[in-house]
Amino acid sequence: MNHARISARVRRIKPSPSSAAADRATALKREGKNIVSLAVGEPDFDTPAHIRAAASRAMDNGETRYTMLPGSVELRQAIAAKLKRENDLVYAPNDIIVTNGCKSGIYSALEATLEAGDEVIVPAPFWVSYPDMVIACDGVPKVIACPENQGFKMSPAQLEAAITDKTRWLIINSPSNPTGASYTAAEYRKLADVLARHPQVLVMTDDIYEHIRFDGRTTPHLLNAAPELKDRVLAINGVSKTYAMTGWRIGWIAGPSDLIGALNTLLSQAAGNACSISQAAAVEALNGDQSFVSESVAIYRARRDRMLTRINQIQGLSCLPPDGAFYLYVNCAGLIGRKTPAGATLETDSDVAMYLLESVGVAVVQGSAYGLSPFFRMSIAASLDVLDDGTERIARAVSELR
Ligand SMILES: Cc1ncc(COP(=O)(O)O)c(C=O)c1O
Repeated sequence: MNHARISARVRRIKPSPSSAAADRATALKREGKNIVSLAVGEPDFDTPAHIRAAASRAMDNGETRYTMLPGSVELRQAIAAKLKRENDLVYAPNDIIVTNGCKSGIYSALEATLEAGDEVIVPAPFWVSYPDMVIACDGVPKVIACPENQGFKMSPAQLEAAITDKTRWLIINSPSNPTGASYTAAEYRKLADVLARHPQVLVMTDDIYEHIRFDGRTTPHLLNAAPELKDRVLAINGVSKTYAMTGWRIGWIAGPSDLIGALNTLLSQAAGNACSISQAAAVEALNGDQSFVSESVAIYRARRDRMLTRINQIQGLSCLPPDGAFYLYVNCAGLIGRKTPAGATLETDSDVAMYLLESVGVAVVQGSAYGLSPFFRMSIAASLDVLDDGTERIARAVSELR
């Protein structure tokens, strides 16, 4: 590669490991290999028909031009209504900006606020993109290891210890990708007590999995427990996971006017509005029939229960029950140090992921990608047949280790 042509900013980051694992699985399938891909992070359902119909109507009605930069008034009204109805949070449409997916929203928010050397607290296990986004925006990720015996959650003491004068953001993702761990209102209150002592720290809440929960509970928002933080919080969400709309690229950010204004300025130069047709579809997703949400969650729950039982029956593997999202974060400490039939020693969770792919054709993502080892993430967003096949293969691969 000709480094002189590529900025230091891009040279500092790496491609998303979960996309890389999914791409590797697709490439092997293309070569004719029989691969079970449990690497992806998207619903295996189609977008519900009434949402697709709204998009067709929008096209037929000529909604094919630029919308207002922060999103159509209809969509921002629908988001404001959703925030009130589902989260008990009050935002006006002008406090909201629609982005090309939650991913670009988070990146833009970092770009709009970070100065070189600013620190961003990222509890691990984390969604793979956070640290690299911070690095690309000249910031410094401060990763806090939140071990399994803490339920993969950050303690108030850990938060306190991680904050410095340079801390600009804390990123919270609940329920979490990859662990499914979710903070309770009481836990949020204790974290908020720490934040109260450090007014320079802003908080991004990535709420994208809020509805994919297995305990029948409503996901609390940090601002329900600590309304006084409202001026310091960006509440980030989108339609990708809840409504099986990953390809439509609609996310949003609600927050204080200076930050939303800065995002408006940045995106007016850098991106323009999100797709007009997708925005119309998102209005229908938020305002229309919600039965898809509970129906799909019931299916995820059945899969989670079955996979959890099966994985926990495999000697050397164990997994805590995730509260939500659609992944299992499997502890594979019991496989580390063991030998494959070919005589290689499994030294890391990357070795484990590679062994599963090469020996039995199961694609998972190594825990090192999420900042806490030794684990691997497997998606449960696949049919029960595929998941059964995947776990049987994993059991076989494990039984062949010495
Ligand atoms: C935690 C988390 N945040 C954000 C995203 C991105 O969502 P979007 O499709 O809205 O960009 C994902 C997708 O994998 C995710 O897992």
